[in-house]
Amino acid sequence: MKSILAISLSCAFLLIFPASTLFAQQAAKTIVDKECAKCHSLKKVYSASKDAAGWEKTLDRMIKKGAVIEPEDKDPVLKYLNTLNK
Ligand code: HEC
Repeated sequence: MKSILAISLSCAFLLIFPASTLFAQQAAKTIVDKECAKCHSLKKVYSASKDAAGWEKTLDRMIKKGAVIEPEDKDPVLKYLNTLNK
């Protein structure tokens, strides 16, 4: 009985985890495509190749300039930016 529970829990985890990551990524892409195209073309974003620290610095710089990224959206947006150019 215990093992059935363990198996169903891990199945649920395996199903839910990639789905929620996918939703977060999709939401982050929507934010990037809207917010980051306000001052320059998205080409600037999608042609950039940065490591995680580089994106964090860039995102903070863009926020200082006027990009509107809610504090709770920063993390998924950074994760999404980190998937670019790989
Ligand atoms: C308020 C205007 C504004 C918004 C909104 C904005 N940017 Fe920028 N961005 C700039 C300006 C101005 C530059 C060129 C000067 C510079 O690099 O600081 C730039 C340059 C860049 C560059 C090239 C320079 C580098 O550091 O590689 C990247 C990449 C970039 N922006 C990403 C983003 C992303 C991602 C977003 C959305 C979160 C965003 N920008 C939103 C104004 C903006």
